[in-house]
Amino acid sequence: MTTNWYNESVFYELYIRAYKDSNGDGHGDFRGAMEKLDHIKSLGVDCIWVMPHYPSPLLDDGYDISDYMGVHSDYGTLDDFKDFLDAAHARGLKVITDMVMNHTSDQHPWFQAARQDKNSPYRDYYVWSDTGTEYADARIIFLDTEPSNWTYDKVAGQYFWHRFYRSQPDLNYDNPQVHEEMFKAMRFWLDMGIDGFRVDAIPYLYEREGTNCENLPETHKFLKKMRRMVDDEYPGTLLIAEANQWPEDLLPYFGTTEAPEFQICFHFPIMPRLYMALKKGDKTPIVDILNRTPQKPEGTQWMTFLRNHDELTLEMVTPEEREWMWQQYAPNPRAKLNLGIRRRQIPLLDNDKRKWFLLNALFLSLPGAPIIYYGDEIGMGDNIWFPDRHGCRTPMQWDAGKNAGFSDAKETYLPVLCDDAYGYQQVNVVVQEDDPDSYLNLTRFLIQTRQRQSALKTGEMEWVETGNNSVLAFRRHIGKEGVLCLFNLSNQPQTFTLKRERVDLLSKSQQALSGTLTIASRGAHWLK
Ligand code: BGC
Repeated sequence: MTTNWYNESVFYELYIRAYKDSNGDGHGDFRGAMEKLDHIKSLGVDCIWVMPHYPSPLLDDGYDISDYMGVHSDYGTLDDFKDFLDAAHARGLKVITDMVMNHTSDQHPWFQAARQDKNSPYRDYYVWSDTGTEYADARIIFLDTEPSNWTYDKVAGQYFWHRFYRSQPDLNYDNPQVHEEMFKAMRFWLDMGIDGFRVDAIPYLYEREGTNCENLPETHKFLKKMRRMVDDEYPGTLLIAEANQWPEDLLPYFGTTEAPEFQICFHFPIMPRLYMALKKGDKTPIVDILNRTPQKPEGTQWMTFLRNHDELTLEMVTPEEREWMWQQYAPNPRAKLNLGIRRRQIPLLDNDKRKWFLLNALFLSLPGAPIIYYGDEIGMGDNIWFPDRHGCRTPMQWDAGKNAGFSDAKETYLPVLCDDAYGYQQVNVVVQEDDPDSYLNLTRFLIQTRQRQSALKTGEMEWVETGNNSVLAFRRHIGKEGVLCLFNLSNQPQTFTLKRERVDLLSKSQQALSGTLTIASRGAHWLK
């Protein structure tokens, strides 16, 4: 692989707690995940993103870190982590971990020392106020739970700043010592041989009065410093930006050729528009957002996704679009969470395989490095009645045995799904292995077909006019080599006239097609 391996890669988001429990305590762990690396490899993915695996009180599922240089005892030991890493590398899989820089857990010894002593050097690791009135223009992100970004701490006798839960005090990036602490943590994992980080919640690192405290110049300056450290000391390390922002605000997170920041940025705004276009049977939302997406610097990449461990975020749509999405996709108010929808992909698509195939074929042919959320490869369901976002984080369904083959324990960290539609008795890896048309085998087919086409991995994209809003068409190409991607978003057959003979990579028969092509309702074609 070249140093730009990430440009062509497909990623897999792995939640260790949910994957496989090796010691019967009801929590997934690294030794369990190791047993399942062949499953991950079989999908055709190249890199695993491991969600936070650090010691943590787990009040935000590990995004509340209490020690940056350890492994949560439920998930195993540092040696287990190393073994997992080696086993992944032995299979040619890269591994990146989650780096939560914006905040720590309030149980972190830094915060404990800070709140107890005004004169502690750790006091200035966090952001304090006597009044809790500053930075009033910063929005509240977890607005179903938190009334303010300030919380009064009795022990400290002051308010502390937090963009997420009050159990997650924000670090103070005006203190250069904080930079050093984060770099120390990054070096610790990079020395062990990981391939990079997904860097969490980066728009919020600095606060400045009179701004919305997002995407500030100071934040970009720090991120350039971080990239410089990584490039100097660990060349080739991948940094992925989690910045839930509009395309024009995302672009600066790539930095410049002279002063780069991230090689990959999640493309948040495209995601809800894929669901929107499908429901409307109209390509306009997709075309508009991609036309609004600026050209990214050479060598960088977008990361595309259909779902992840969070709610399906509707932050990057207009208020009207958000209302429409809620009406369409969250008729039960319980499915709403903050500014999003706490549902997995398959229930959102009514467990309709045609819709699923269309959406996934579209997602896997868009420019960008796609990431698959664990469980989505078998069409796992959700449970909106679990608190927070837990309903989309239930145990992986391996087989129809006890606890879905996830664990031998009496009780698991969350119950396995056992409803009629998505229960583990019906939806599991073993059942789907033998069915060529299962979600599992179709996921493999789509990923592997994509990965054989350089044009789909890194080619340019150019719209093809169809004169029909229901039919989305674009060409991905490298020079003359290309694939014409055609999608009928509507529930009626549509036609498209081919100018030359082509072979459909998505049809098993691989028959040559020419002339007027009828695209079935919700049909998808990758034509070479
Ligand atoms: C993560 C969330 C988390 C938040 C705070 C996000 O962007 O994806 O799961 O709750 O950061 O760390």
